[in-house]
Amino acid sequence: MKATAKAHTNIALIKYWGKRDDTLILPTNNSLSLTLDGFYTTTTVSFRQELKQDVFYLNDEAVTGAAFDRVTVFLDLVRSMAEKPDLFAEIKSTNEVPTAAGFASSASGFAALAAAAARAIGLDLSKSELSQLTRQGSGSACRSIYGGFAEWEQGENKDGSDSYAVQVAPQNHWDIRVAAVVLSDKTKRISSREGMKRTVDTSPFFDGWIGSIPSDLKRIKEGIAARDFTVVGEIAEANCLRMHATTLGAAPPFMYWLDGTVTVMQAVQAMRSEGIPAYFTIDAGPNVKVLYLPENEDVVLQKLRHIPGVQNVTSSKPGQGITYL
Ligand code: PMV
Repeated sequence: MKATAKAHTNIALIKYWGKRDDTLILPTNNSLSLTLDGFYTTTTVSFRQELKQDVFYLNDEAVTGAAFDRVTVFLDLVRSMAEKPDLFAEIKSTNEVPTAAGFASSASGFAALAAAAARAIGLDLSKSELSQLTRQGSGSACRSIYGGFAEWEQGENKDGSDSYAVQVAPQNHWDIRVAAVVLSDKTKRISSREGMKRTVDTSPFFDGWIGSIPSDLKRIKEGIAARDFTVVGEIAEANCLRMHATTLGAAPPFMYWLDGTVTVMQAVQAMRSEGIPAYFTIDAGPNVKVLYLPENEDVVLQKLRHIPGVQNVTSSKPGQGITYL
């Protein structure tokens, strides 16, 4: 009763921002992401009769507290699906996320955990069933089941049975690149969970955000199919700005950006006016991800690394979906 799975993180080009059910993790809008090859988690789960509770090691260190609770609550779901409520596991995870790459590890972490745990306990899940299960650990993780471009369909059912990701285009469809630009972050971050909730509950801009999604999604999928970098980049950048605009309307208002965030955004726009196609996107934090084409890699990375305040720049290609080792 042991299995090992590897999952890569993903970056949303159309953001998931808002929940309609906090417990089942059901979103208020569809989202669309690109899975990245540079950052991944490998997890081995062994269910053993002799264990009296779960044990979780991350990068060889025993994990306790809130991070452990989140994992064990998630494994309760797996146990209940398999009808083995008293079977506990040893979980060993390794995060291959370059230090300070500015990615949360929850997407690759929960995707690898869900895949390894389901297989180890003997559940034979389809990709959509695995995505549905993964979603309940971390929303954005449900997109990491697939390589390349994936869309998380919000679904309508109250029980979440139609809320899971599907593949939009495979890893080898199109070689576009993403640079993760890390800035010094001295401020305390508002978690995506808290940020989304406050926005849904209080921001008058939230309806505008939701209203803008269907056309963004339609156009970006056309852009991906046609490998049209301008279309994909323009929509991703505008979608990210609209997501962040909702936070400014919340009560109390909040903002994820630092001075350096705006400096990088302006540097990316300056690249475009010099004829270098590059676009930015930003998640619930100060760090910036920059989309560019392989032929511009040297110039884009060099320019990003020279921006004052930038700590680290790591580049990534499209990545693969779940694999079992
Ligand atoms: O799944 P979470 O709780 O890590 O939330 C992710 C939210 C964003 O990163 C801002 C957007 C997204 O779709 O990944």
